[in-house]
Amino acid sequence: MIQFSQNAIKRVESLKKQYPTKDACLLPVLHMAQKEFGYISPEVMEYVAGLIGISPARVYGVATFYTMYNKKTVGKYHVQVCTNISCHLEGSAKILDTLKSVLGIEEDQTTPDKMFTLSSVECLGACGFGPVVQINDDYYEQCTEQKIKDIVSDLRKK
Ligand code: FES
Repeated sequence: MIQFSQNAIKRVESLKKQYPTKDACLLPVLHMAQKEFGYISPEVMEYVAGLIGISPARVYGVATFYTMYNKKTVGKYHVQVCTNISCHLEGSAKILDTLKSVLGIEEDQTTPDKMFTLSSVECLGACGFGPVVQINDDYYEQCTEQKIKDIVSDLRKK
């Protein structure tokens, strides 16, 4: 059975007091759950629902709406390429193809060594700086094919 650490449980209790409704603290609690468990599985959704005191269906609805919550396990580096209109016009398709080639995987796949998961996502909110790629919590803007190759190469050395 999954369970937050004691510190995380204390943090959830504190969040519940800070927000006006139980629903309102769902996003930060899901963020904590992703950090703690790696991804938001159905089991995690049920656990979070019980902890906050809302229905699992509500948690499911929110967790599946936002692409920032991973619904399945991802590699050490989750590479998310924005393919929305502004980034598309700036060449995000080429960046995605370059990543597929460099990583040897297709979208929504993870490399055999569990280092990289590749996804295409909707707008990342940095439309003026496309093509934009998010890798874990870091944003890489105005990506070129060479720049993204260098980024992957650097991450492989870490
Ligand atoms: S369209 Fe790519 S960040 Fe908005």
